[in-house]
Amino acid sequence: MADGNYHEAISHLGRTHLVLEPFVLATANELASNHPLSILLKPHFQFTLAINELAREQLISPGGYADALLVGTLESSISVIKAAIKEYLDNFSDFALPNELTQRGVGKNDLDEHGDNFLPDYPYRDDALLLWEAIESYVRDYLSLYYSSPERILEDTELRNWVQKLMSSEGGNVKGLVVNGKLETKEQLVAIATQLIFISGPQHGAVNYPQYDYMSFVPNMPLATYASPPSRDQEIDEATIMKILPPQKLAAKQLELMRTLTVFQPNRLGYPDEDFVDKRAQDALKQFQTKLNEIEEEITKRNKTRIKPYSFLLPSKVPNSLNI
Ligand SMILES: [Fe+2]
Repeated sequence: MADGNYHEAISHLGRTHLVLEPFVLATANELASNHPLSILLKPHFQFTLAINELAREQLISPGGYADALLVGTLESSISVIKAAIKEYLDNFSDFALPNELTQRGVGKNDLDEHGDNFLPDYPYRDDALLLWEAIESYVRDYLSLYYSSPERILEDTELRNWVQKLMSSEGGNVKGLVVNGKLETKEQLVAIATQLIFISGPQHGAVNYPQYDYMSFVPNMPLATYASPPSRDQEIDEATIMKILPPQKLAAKQLELMRTLTVFQPNRLGYPDEDFVDKRAQDALKQFQTKLNEIEEEITKRNKTRIKPYSFLLPSKVPNSLNI
């Protein structure tokens, strides 16, 4: 139950859907539609505002799914979501995948006293890092076309307004976006754009699509329990368990939600609906697609020797934007 609530409030809604929203808005409001950063990011924001609006109407509204299914009151669940968003936006770069893994002690180089990894079988980490690196190279190749010298960054007034709007407390309130409030180098922009594309595609895919496997069978991960857990000396029979688990109607509602969230994949990472107009950018995208095909093969190979195959970060199964 705790896992399920942490997952929905923090990992899913808070730290994918809602942390992206200020970026979607600032990109639409502060950058011209032919600004290179806007052209890069927009395919990864396709349908994001629409699904977030639906979430506000049906998920975190009075009587909605969160109210009915999660363990806390709607008000307390929303306060958890808000705290999760604030921590993320205040410390934006700490949540870049390699940093986030290290902070949790499960990075590639987190070894115990025998020199072994703390968590040797961790498919999410191993596959996500491949995608992170591929996205980072793509973003760097693309941005290098337009920011060929440090002056290009400093002279870009729209980019400056984008950063200011994102960081201001009346705007996006992304306090941790850049140190000292100034974006001065291409590498800073590469890091930000990589993180945004990673959240919208792989990260959301990795928290969304496994929900059917883990959460549609309610006894595996009930979003709330309805009686105290049995004490140590109490005999546990079916009646005791049934009292603890959600009533049938709510169990069906949880199943319905998990099914709805996991049956659609409307787009695919690295395959935007429209080609870039700039031929050089098309080349960067083609290279990204080639890299994604290599990753597809690598993960397929890994899955043959894993304890259990992990398919959620196969590039062909990763959406291009957060849209469900
Ligand atoms: Fe989602």
